[in-house]
Amino acid sequence: MNNFSSRSLWRFGFSARLLKTNHFRTAASNTSFPAVWMLLAQYPGRIPGSFAKVQRNSFFTMPETVEDKADPELYSPPPRVRGMTQLDREAFKRTIVVPVLKVQKEIIGSLLKPLKHTLLQRPGLKRVIEDPDDENSRLVMLDPHKIPEFSLGGSEQEVLKQFNIPPVVSKYDLELTYESFKLEEILRAVLPEGQEVTSGFSRVGHIAHLNLRDHQLPYRYLIGQVIIDKNPGVTSVVNKTSIIDSTYRNFEMEVLAGESNLVTKVKENNTTYELDFSKVYWNPRLSTEHGRIVELLKPGDVLFDVFAGVGPFAIPAAKKKCRVFANDLNPESYTWLLHNCKLNKVGDKIKAFNMDGRDFLLGPVREELSKGLLLQTEEQKPSFHIVMNLPALALEFLAAFRHLLAGAARGAALPTVHCYAFSKHPEPALDVWQRAEASLGASLRACCSVHAVRNVAPNKEMMCLSFQLPADVLYGRPCPAEEKPACKRQRTSKDSSEETLPS
Ligand SMILES: C[S@@+](CC[C@H](N)C(=O)[O-])C[C@H]1O[C@@H](n2cnc3c(N)ncnc32)[C@H](O)[C@@H]1O
Repeated sequence: MNNFSSRSLWRFGFSARLLKTNHFRTAASNTSFPAVWMLLAQYPGRIPGSFAKVQRNSFFTMPETVEDKADPELYSPPPRVRGMTQLDREAFKRTIVVPVLKVQKEIIGSLLKPLKHTLLQRPGLKRVIEDPDDENSRLVMLDPHKIPEFSLGGSEQEVLKQFNIPPVVSKYDLELTYESFKLEEILRAVLPEGQEVTSGFSRVGHIAHLNLRDHQLPYRYLIGQVIIDKNPGVTSVVNKTSIIDSTYRNFEMEVLAGESNLVTKVKENNTTYELDFSKVYWNPRLSTEHGRIVELLKPGDVLFDVFAGVGPFAIPAAKKKCRVFANDLNPESYTWLLHNCKLNKVGDKIKAFNMDGRDFLLGPVREELSKGLLLQTEEQKPSFHIVMNLPALALEFLAAFRHLLAGAARGAALPTVHCYAFSKHPEPALDVWQRAEASLGASLRACCSVHAVRNVAPNKEMMCLSFQLPADVLYGRPCPAEEKPACKRQRTSKDSSEETLPS
């Protein structure tokens, strides 16, 4: 096994996949804003009235690119908000100067479409407003970044010509308020300069889940409130407060803003789940992986889900008319699993258990396999799949398969195991493969594939090892030396997990 190269793993099906996630990044990007209006915006008070006309240059010069004029400050909140820890929305008011076109109100409707790329686009701001000096006209707001130095480009002039509108751009004092700024603009203006704004959040139903860094903590309540204000549907923001996950893989959290009710509803791959996010495990980044495994199942197949959580493998499998045995040690997960079975009307297809994964394998799984693997007829050939998604520890549970059916009559079929693991090894596929072999005490060389599920952290991968359980592991009798202790571990997972073995 040791002289197996990682290329062999690729041959057996190792594939790195980028996951499509439900993850919303809010970190400050390096987005550059064109700079044309900086000067003008600094002196809004000097412009008489609400807007003033600007004459076009009478000579032609090569237009400077928008990027040349980039003004990262144009849409920034005022400097006074820097360091704010309690949200004061009024303090965000600021006036900037934007270009406007005066247009007869009858032609507004026809004009907006051809000018749509030039129009001002800011959250909460109207693009067409009343003309204070003329009730028959309207003012059309243009994007300062697109109209450098109040000078219309050739295509805009062409459009205006068609409508007989003189190509005269005027200035308008526009008041920006808290509502006009985007989330990252607000946080970039408030948090210390030069530091990462926020590490992003995951969305679980009505909950935004953050994992803030130390330097962000003084601003956490403000960050929470701004996330609620700027994300319709988010009514609660929580921050993870402990680094080490609990046995049940839920984590300690602080509610930063909004409602403290963390019972929520999520939809994944067309299945609805309800859960209490403070008490059970739910990770929106696993939806692709859940779908991938369920895709492998056929109606009539049997699924054993050893660490089932609230049911994201089990319930879709049952909806696909598989027979499902789902287990979780966390009583809260078990309760929500039962709830979700009812919610999705698959109660008759799923048998739920609330026990340790090892006991589940040695009890209900052993019992079912010893009957099921034998009862294979020509017409009925269900496959048996065992899913083990507890990546920090699942490899160690593989030892429970040793001699699981020792002494039982051998069936023709063998179950397929899908076992998840974290790896910090430079060759993660090889690493999890070798650790699985050590735990099983057998070679998986001929019957195994490794799938890269997701990158969990820098240098930490989540992998899924799928293999057919070797008959010798399942049916072999323990040799006397092996009987005490029953499942001797040959290699620990300490190098790939911070967590400790649950009792
Ligand atoms: C990583 S979560 C996976 C949940 C679900 N399968 C999913 O994909 O979202 C692992 C689950 O294993 C459960 N768990 C932890 N230790 C366990 C054990 N010794 N036996 C059974 N379940 C356990 C936790 O409560 C948690 O729900």
